[in-house]
Amino acid sequence: MNLRRVYDDHLFPRLVDLTLTDPLVGSWRRAVCDGLSGDVVEFGFGSGRNLPHYPADVRTVSAVEPSDVAWSRAGGRVDAFARRGGRVERVSLDAARIDLPDDSADAVVTTWTLCSIPDLGSALEEARRVLRPGGELRFVEHSLAPDPSVARWQRRLQPMWGQVAGGCHLDRDIPSLLVDAGFELAVGQQRYISSVPGAKVVGWFVTGTALPQ
Ligand SMILES: C[S@@+](CC[C@H](N)C(=O)[O-])C[C@H]1O[C@@H](n2cnc3c(N)ncnc32)[C@H](O)[C@@H]1O
Repeated sequence: MNLRRVYDDHLFPRLVDLTLTDPLVGSWRRAVCDGLSGDVVEFGFGSGRNLPHYPADVRTVSAVEPSDVAWSRAGGRVDAFARRGGRVERVSLDAARIDLPDDSADAVVTTWTLCSIPDLGSALEEARRVLRPGGELRFVEHSLAPDPSVARWQRRLQPMWGQVAGGCHLDRDIPSLLVDAGFELAVGQQRYISSVPGAKVVGWFVTGTALPQ
């Protein structure tokens, strides 16, 4: 038995599902999903915890998610979304290669996922490709903190953190990476989710809208 695979493939997706729940982050999910309509592509769909927050005007959600465990844990939320008249389909395992036509989405949504995508540059190109003219990328992510002392700890802890957190990067400056990929940003909230020093390292949250230029 390969313990590394057991942890990465089975245990970690369950930990994520049990951690990123509404009591902790529901208000961030609501802000990201607010006002969306039409066809949404969700990078890092996870266990579907954004589904209850999509407005009724969202018709389809194309899920991009590599983890079979996370996807299987989404079942109840996918069924509930269908009962509301929407449809969810898992279209791809990697945001760097999405099996959807050009100009086919009204929005790309990503919640705490850009930190974990290995080939982020290609994923952001894919986001631009699938978005229809006028479409937008909505995000809430944890990012490199603005305080030098916190950022120093993020860089220090990164080698170990990446090993235990599914390849997550504490030290990605998500807003800058979006700008570098050709998006114009309207940043919404950005703040630490907790003032506890340890929590700051994983808890500089940034939310907003990114428009392809
Ligand atoms: C921290 S979890 C967040 C899950 C979900 N977005 C949420 O808000 O609960 C990060 C997610 O990104 C997914 N992921 C990792 N690599 C990915 C890739 N290359 N393309 C798309 N998703 C990926 C993981 O499997 C995981 O479900």
